[in-house]
Amino acid sequence: MSIINRELRLKHRPEGMVRREDFDLVRAPLSELNDGEVLVRVLYISMDPTNRVWMRDIPQYMPPVAIGEVMRAGGIGRVVQSRSSQFAEGDLVQGFVGWQDYFVIHESAANAYLRLPADPGIPLPRLLGACGTSGVTAYYGLTDIAPVEAGETLVVSAAAGSVGSIAGQIGKIMGARVIGIAGGADKCGYLVDELGFDAAVDYKAPEWKKALKDATPNGVHVNFENVGGDIMKAVLSRMVLHGRVALCGLISGYAGDTKPSDDFSVIVVKRLAVRGFLVFDYKKTKQAVHTLRGWIREGKLKTEETVVDGLEDAPLVLNRLFDGSHKGKLVLRVDPHA
Ligand SMILES: NC(=O)c1ccc[n+]([C@@H]2O[C@H](COP(=O)([O-])OP(=O)(O)OC[C@H]3O[C@@H](n4cnc5c(N)ncnc54)[C@H](OP(=O)(O)O)[C@@H]3O)[C@@H](O)[C@H]2O)c1
Repeated sequence: MSIINRELRLKHRPEGMVRREDFDLVRAPLSELNDGEVLVRVLYISMDPTNRVWMRDIPQYMPPVAIGEVMRAGGIGRVVQSRSSQFAEGDLVQGFVGWQDYFVIHESAANAYLRLPADPGIPLPRLLGACGTSGVTAYYGLTDIAPVEAGETLVVSAAAGSVGSIAGQIGKIMGARVIGIAGGADKCGYLVDELGFDAAVDYKAPEWKKALKDATPNGVHVNFENVGGDIMKAVLSRMVLHGRVALCGLISGYAGDTKPSDDFSVIVVKRLAVRGFLVFDYKKTKQAVHTLRGWIREGKLKTEETVVDGLEDAPLVLNRLFDGSHKGKLVLRVDPHA
């Protein structure tokens, strides 16, 4: 009996929050494998803010997902059939999996996938978060792009999210005073009480700009920026002369409803060093992952994953990155047995 694959194909380019109707749910029988091909069962899908940008027809670092195409997404899968000597049944692979139950890799594209050990030693969702792209992004942002030094003040936005929660904790490991910006009292309490941030600013509270000022009496030396818009503007206004910004992301503009700030005068006046970066530019990340895993083992770095079930709900689950109803890494479990 042939296997039926469920695929979520982009139907409309969403406006604002993503709707189920923006995707077609297609059930298609899988063809027999050809020589050199392997069939992979998708186990977990990484929910990333950049997925929302890929749905838009705007210039970006990868081509937008085309109308009719299976939604592109990173994740982890297990090889269930192999007609390639390079893969065996049971192998775990990490890379682009798409919003679907199964996908096929041709062995000529094997290098695009990371092979995971049979027992990675940590839960698989963490390989998509603190021990994967999110952790490595935070690591390079604060060790290479805008290195933070002991005694300096670091401000991290979207601080209770996947990248931000790791960035703030790395700042603490480096000896900085760390201020997180997040939405709501619950997330702010989590940052201070559980992750050891020095202070947290709830940007949904009316007096948040004053709270940011009070939390940064000596100014801000380094800004790890994930949000942009008014939040970035407020942080830049608190920066010291020659302050550094690791410009990691601008999530407030990804759904197309917020204009990024066009007030660059503060960058001139304060002689700021603002560096944008993409984690994909770092090709050898083994050392970073090794360091992150070491900090986790030593109890210096806490991790959190929000795992949600259900491939068909992927469009709605993605919205949780934009309404903030998750903590740490947001992951979709596709295989209920994973
Ligand atoms: N440069 C790179 O290579 C790279 C790699 C990975 C990720 N990133 C970027 O890193 C950032 C965080 O990504 P992530 O995967 O770790 O996601 P995440 O932080 O786990 O989730 C996004 C968070 O952003 C906050 N947010 C969403 N819309 C907002 C708005 N309009 N204003 C203020 N806060 C808002 C929400 O938290 P609240 O509840 O606090 O609002 C939400 O929880 C994104 O900008 C992403 O594009 C960059």
